[in-house]
Amino acid sequence: MYFENNDDIKKRIIESDVKICVVGVGTIGLPLATFLAKKGFKITGLDISHERVNQINTARVIYEYQDMLRDVTNNHNLIATTDPKTALDGVETIFICVPTPLNKNNEMDIVNLNNVAKRISPFLKKGMILIFESSVAIGTTKQIANTIESMTDFEFGKDLGLAYCPERYNPTPMKKETQDTEFNIHSRGENFTVDKISRVVGGIDEKSSEIAQLLYSQFITTGVTKLSSIEAAEATKLLENIFRDVNIALVNELAKIFPKFGLDVFEIINAAKTKPFAFMPHFPGAGVGGECIPVDTWYLISQAQELGIDTKLMKVARSVNDSMPEHVVSILEYEFDKIDKDISSSQVTILGLCYKKNIPDIRLSPTFPLIEKLTAKNVNTIVCDPVYEKINSPVKLTPINDSFKNSDAILLITDHDDFQNLDFENISNDMNTKIIIDGRNFFNHEILDKFGFTYRAIGKPE
Ligand SMILES: NC(=O)c1ccc[n+]([C@@H]2O[C@H](COP(=O)([O-])OP(=O)(O)OC[C@H]3O[C@@H](n4cnc5c(N)ncnc54)[C@H](O)[C@@H]3O)[C@@H](O)[C@H]2O)c1
Repeated sequence: MYFENNDDIKKRIIESDVKICVVGVGTIGLPLATFLAKKGFKITGLDISHERVNQINTARVIYEYQDMLRDVTNNHNLIATTDPKTALDGVETIFICVPTPLNKNNEMDIVNLNNVAKRISPFLKKGMILIFESSVAIGTTKQIANTIESMTDFEFGKDLGLAYCPERYNPTPMKKETQDTEFNIHSRGENFTVDKISRVVGGIDEKSSEIAQLLYSQFITTGVTKLSSIEAAEATKLLENIFRDVNIALVNELAKIFPKFGLDVFEIINAAKTKPFAFMPHFPGAGVGGECIPVDTWYLISQAQELGIDTKLMKVARSVNDSMPEHVVSILEYEFDKIDKDISSSQVTILGLCYKKNIPDIRLSPTFPLIEKLTAKNVNTIVCDPVYEKINSPVKLTPINDSFKNSDAILLITDHDDFQNLDFENISNDMNTKIIIDGRNFFNHEILDKFGFTYRAIGKPE
């Protein structure tokens, strides 16, 4: 398609007459594959996980587009496989959505991208276009393209098209519909579904940018903006996430300071929000998780370092946000001190292992460092997360009804809907000492007072 004239490409894309492969059909790859398949494109999903492939082909994935997935697997517009030869047969466009986590030195680990390059290279054909979505440090897309060039006779910008379109997936809260693992988008009332989130694309050349823009425009209804280069698109993603990281760090810091003045930081943020321009609210919490915001900040910190630039603000933002689990522990210790309770002989119930409300994703969750810090102080921790309970968890999860017996404190880290209507009357009877530390401004203070709890919340005065 890369060599076809613009009118022919346009016609075929509009008619969904392009076979597409999405490599890495995980959290972001699957929604992309689902929306493209729904639009009528024939999609193959290439993954290395047999389990994931199985779940997709039987439409048993826990995510908000499960209904759509059922439709597109039933009509065979989406078929997942672990075999690259099958996946790439007849394909003209390849989207790449594999994970790009941090290594031990907080630098980007490109091992998955390199693996993709190795797996797909033997099956590439002249005229294909590759579109990367994985979040990356600036320059990575071209670096992987160079790797592919070294394994083939092809050159990007000559034989193959190349573009980058940063993912803006908003893993939105899903409401449980049944006692089983069924989630449904219709119950969410959310506006930021994949089709309603505008995107930016950057290509190695004008042709690549145009094809990418046209493809995304088939299912994105809110605009796809062409940028001047791949690097500009990579940098845009970094700015978006670093902006959030830095601003959350600011309010997290204020959440430590304002309560000392007797002020509730949430009141102040909401007050500032009444200014009609130049202020965007961010809210403090028990920590910033997910393989997106913290990771992207580190990408740029390490890239800047290589360039001899000491990124003071970004590093401080990371360290402030990483300090929040410790802040939760310090509030707990303060409250235990007041009642002469030795933390090392305590049992604490942690509500939430997932990094975000109602999302079954635990990557870089602040609950992990929190458990670590408490365990180092010999605290017996009970972790409860109904959203993650049915998934293989690296941490033992306790059902909600068994989570409070003999505990001395509750630490709310994730504001899942499941924690909304806890029976605090019963819970207060189960607990030894009644302390709640609310890491998400979630609980109703007055109800907890009624049942004799000491309520503390991040950002709120004692
Ligand atoms: N999750 C989010 O909310 C989010 C948001 C924006 C950007 N991102 C970025 O998107 C990218 C993907 O993240 P994700 O959350 O979808 O990850 P994920 O772990 O949910 O899914 C990745 C999928 O890729 C598969 N995979 C890994 N290596 C592979 C290979 N060599 N070949 C084929 N498949 C392979 C995995 O089995 C998995 O199914 C990352 O760069 C991430 O930073 C994620």
